[in-house]
Amino acid sequence: MTTGPQLPSPTWFVGCGNMGGAIIDGWRLAGIDLSNVTVIRPSGKAVEGVRTVTSLPEAGVPPKLIVLAVKPQKLDEVAPELKPWITGRATIVSILAGAEVASLKRRFPGAGSIIRAMPNLPIAIRRGVTALYSDGADEVLKRQVGDLFVALGWAMWTADEGKLATIGSVAGAGPAYVARFIDALAKAGEARGLSRETAATVALETVLGTSWMAATTGEAMDSVVRRVASPNGTTEAGLAVLDQALDDLIGVTIEAAARRGGELAEEAKASSLAEPARLS
Ligand SMILES: NC(=O)c1ccc[n+]([C@@H]2O[C@H](COP(=O)([O-])OP(=O)(O)OC[C@H]3O[C@@H](n4cnc5c(N)ncnc54)[C@H](OP(=O)(O)O)[C@@H]3O)[C@@H](O)[C@H]2O)c1
Repeated sequence: MTTGPQLPSPTWFVGCGNMGGAIIDGWRLAGIDLSNVTVIRPSGKAVEGVRTVTSLPEAGVPPKLIVLAVKPQKLDEVAPELKPWITGRATIVSILAGAEVASLKRRFPGAGSIIRAMPNLPIAIRRGVTALYSDGADEVLKRQVGDLFVALGWAMWTADEGKLATIGSVAGAGPAYVARFIDALAKAGEARGLSRETAATVALETVLGTSWMAATTGEAMDSVVRRVASPNGTTEAGLAVLDQALDDLIGVTIEAAARRGGELAEEAKASSLAEPARLS
């Protein structure tokens, strides 16, 4: 008998690209039963062990849980088609960056609850970070959905939708920034004579080992720095350059992502206000 978190039957994934696929991969790894899941995606590209169809009418019985995983720019294409299928006490879990609960409620008035989740890509290997927000879900539903995301790594509820956006710009986008940092470290090694392959491995393993050490011991980053950098040594010489730029650079990077999140939220609000006229 399965004792872990379970998906309601039926569960639909509307869209299943990078992030929808990562959620399914993580749940599969966690041993969660996917037999009641249907993926709806125009390409019909197969998802291992999961029924996949190309349009909503093919999906069958209306869902109890919908994971909305299309690009934010696709929301207004998908919403009018999806709306009639959202009936009863169906729960929508939306992972769309920027699309606020209020905007989603206007598009899906038949939903029992709307939950926003902001996951990041390592959920595929159950090492993700997910922020969750809902302004209406009861405690039982919050626990059910929370457990499904805890199965994918570290997950937290926030009572402030603004914080969800902030976590999205730090953690949702974060793997891209960390990947760039690893690449930059590798390029520097290559520029100083390492082969591309060796430089890439050295950079990746350095970041992995440092994160793993800090995560498993709880050591603060400042302490890691102090233990690596000896006075007037090589690391200190490097830090003298890095420290001048890094905090500012990351600050403006996250600011740019947050600004774009705000723009997406405004776009979603504007088009949902126009929605009744277009859908009538
Ligand atoms: N990528 C990240 O790291 C990340 C992190 C946090 C949140 N998010 C959010 O996750 C969402 C999806 O991002 P992604 O990177 O997974 O995008 P993606 O790889 O482009 O996937 C989008 C999916 O939407 C499907 N789709 C397009 N039109 C559709 C329609 N009319 N009906 C049903 N499905 C449709 C696509 O179908 P096909 O597969 O058939 O083309 C695809 O499966 C975005 O809203 C984003 O804000 C992403």
